[in-house]
Amino acid sequence: MSLLEPGANATRAGSAGPAGGPALPETPARRALSVEPPFLAACRRRPVPHTPVWVMRQAGRYLPEYRAIREKVGFLALTKTPELAAEVTLQPIRRFGMDAAILFSDIMTPVEGMGISLDFDPGPVIANPVSTPADVDRLRVADPEETVPFVMETIRILHRELPPSAPLIGFAGAPWTLFCYVVEGRGSKTFIRAKSFLFAEPEASKALLDKLADTMTAYLRAQAEAGARALMLFDSWAGLLSPHEFRAFALPAVRRTLAGLADLGVPLIYFPNNGSTLLEDAASSGAHVMGIDWRTPLSRARDVLGPAMAVQGNLDPAALFAPREALGSQIRRVLEEAGDAPGHVFNLGHGIERHTDPDALAYLVDRVHEWTEGRHAAAGQLLDGGEPGGGSRIGEDGEG
Ligand code: CP3
Repeated sequence: MSLLEPGANATRAGSAGPAGGPALPETPARRALSVEPPFLAACRRRPVPHTPVWVMRQAGRYLPEYRAIREKVGFLALTKTPELAAEVTLQPIRRFGMDAAILFSDIMTPVEGMGISLDFDPGPVIANPVSTPADVDRLRVADPEETVPFVMETIRILHRELPPSAPLIGFAGAPWTLFCYVVEGRGSKTFIRAKSFLFAEPEASKALLDKLADTMTAYLRAQAEAGARALMLFDSWAGLLSPHEFRAFALPAVRRTLAGLADLGVPLIYFPNNGSTLLEDAASSGAHVMGIDWRTPLSRARDVLGPAMAVQGNLDPAALFAPREALGSQIRRVLEEAGDAPGHVFNLGHGIERHTDPDALAYLVDRVHEWTEGRHAAAGQLLDGGEPGGGSRIGEDGEG
């Protein structure tokens, strides 16, 4: 059972803006801020007071305060202890003031309840990987309230603790990426076992992808009901597939997952990592926001995806190791490639590396805010009379 229905979240966001009251002079950008946090506004391609920024893997080992907690508790235990998982989620928000928080958990967490035996070393390790169609038959579609109640409890804590300016992103692995681990049994550069199974057993593969999709739909719905304000699907291994296999296997499973979430009214983000050859197809995933890895310029992504979709990305995580001046020009380049149209969420092009200096990330967050402050106001004024961006909108009834 959830304490808060999605509608209750919407009311909370709609009535209590981060500024806390109507004292400021009304401008379109301010009005947007008072109605919804910049991250959610950008996902909905609305005007924003500044480009919102968060980074993938923002909670983790590059932070000394995370390592301090990990010295006392193992990774799996950390994800299963709501007070600690919430604390670790909050750490980067306190330190850097990002525009969104991401639930501290792992893509493999909900797979355990399907009948998969999971450990971490440091990536996922599975004692009973799927290797035959009979193995697929034995897996259950898991009920999240029964198998991962600690995730929803973590989200309820975060819903109370997070500042309204940093809405919580819930997430899951995309079916194909989960398939990779469940069949391979552990991480790999090529996932040759998983890919062989796909070609040798296409029907059993589709059945497995369907079970994973249905489990993730229920899991993500439960996250939204507990208070997650946006939902992201990580397809870390999408780039292992040709467009043909992506269309035949991975994409239908993503569409199945996201179709079951469309009525929630929360922004849906799909991240097909290493997916530059897959973007045209990924455009029909059912997501509102496309995560773009660093290999694809955002300008090209915008051309391919069109104005009805927001983009998220895509600074190369390695740029954070450069001197400030070089990092600064990389940040500017990403902002320029994103352009002035509404609908850009600044992020890295993949997860932050564990040896990153936290001060480099502080510099990144501050420069994105500083350099885009007011930049979108003109666009907001232009768009104020009509429908920003055009096309289909999300959550219009809930949070508009
Ligand atoms: O801050 C956040 O982004 C939220 C937490 C989060 C983790 N994993 C924590 C984690 C998220 C969103 C993930 C997603 C995830 N997990 C993905 C998709 C994103 C991507 O990077 O492509 C994948 C493929 C996994 C599977 C996984 N879990 C791997 C490959 C590893 C090893 C990572 C490594 O750097 O060695 C994990 C473990 C893991 N998940 C850690 C963290 C913080 C490290 C655990 C530790 O503290 O030892």
